[in-house]
Amino acid sequence: MIDQRTIPLTENFGVEVQGVQLGQIKAGAEFDQLRSMFEEHSALLFRAQDIDDEQHLALGKLFGPIEDRLADERKPDEAYVVPRVSNVLKDGTLSGEMDLHTLHLKANMMWHADSTFMPNPALTNILVSRVTTSHGGATEFASTRAAWSQMPKALKVKIEGRGIWHKYSHSRARISPELAALPMFHKWPDQHWNAVWKNPSNGREALYIASHAFKIDGYNEAESQVILDELMAFCTQPQFVYRHEWSVGDVLIWDQRAVLHRATPWPQNEPRTLTSICVSTTDRDGLSLMRHQSDAN
Ligand code: OGA
Ligand code: MN
Repeated sequence: MIDQRTIPLTENFGVEVQGVQLGQIKAGAEFDQLRSMFEEHSALLFRAQDIDDEQHLALGKLFGPIEDRLADERKPDEAYVVPRVSNVLKDGTLSGEMDLHTLHLKANMMWHADSTFMPNPALTNILVSRVTTSHGGATEFASTRAAWSQMPKALKVKIEGRGIWHKYSHSRARISPELAALPMFHKWPDQHWNAVWKNPSNGREALYIASHAFKIDGYNEAESQVILDELMAFCTQPQFVYRHEWSVGDVLIWDQRAVLHRATPWPQNEPRTLTSICVSTTDRDGLSLMRHQSDAN
C-alpha cells in the first residue's frame, strides 16, 4: 500500500497527496488506493514528481483507455505521442497572439470538462507541469459535485432529468468563428448527456456541463445558454474553486465527471507547457447511464 499523507486543497474537494511517486505506482492494491482517493476527493495534487512520458502514459492506462483525438490524423507509421498543452510550436517558436493555436488555448480559459463532445468523454486528465511562466498560467478547478449538493432547488429543477447537447465547435465559436470552422472541431456528432452524473462507486451526483454545452432539452439555444451561464456561475463561486499555481513537476489528476476546470492567462511571450493524458470513461465509470434516454440507440 502507499504510505501517503493527504492535505485538503479546499473545504469542499481536492487533496494534496504526499509521499507518492506516481511513476512507480503499480496496478493492484497501490493503484486501487489511488483510485479510491480519486473517487472520494475528485482532485489529487502531487508535487515534485519525477515522471517521464512513458510513466505518465502507464499511469493513465491504470485509469482506463487512453484518449487519442488524433488517431484519425496520424499516418500508419507515426507513433502516439503524449499530448502537450503548450504555446511552444513544433519549431520551438511561441504561438503568436492571434494564431489559431493561441485562440484554441484561449478557449481553455472557459470553464469546461474535457471531451464532453466525444462519444466517450474524459474520466480524467492527468496534467504534468513541464515549463512554467514567471507569473500567471494557473489552472482553476470547480467542484460540480459540491455545487450540486448545495444548489437551490429553484435552479436544479431547470435541468433535472433533462439531456444536454455538447459539441466541440460550440466552445470554439465563442472565441472565433474561424477557429470553430476547423475540421478538428467537427470530428464527432453532437453528444447528448444527462445533466447529472452519478458516480457508480459512491452514488454522489455532480452537475455535468461544460463550455461545449449548447442546448438543453425543452429550451431553445438562447434559453439554454442563459440557464447554462446561470449554472456555471453558481458552480464556480469561490467556495467551490481550487486554483493551482504550477511548479515544474506538479501533477494534477481530476475527475472530469465532477470537476470543471479552466486555464488562466499568462504572459504571451513566455513558454508554458504541460503534458496531458486524458483517459476516456467506460460503463464502469457510469457512462452508459449518462446517455440520455431519448437517444434511441
Ligand atoms: C486541458 C486544459 C488547462 C490549462 O489540458 O484540458 O484545459 O491550464 N488545460 O492549460
Ligand atoms: Mn481541458
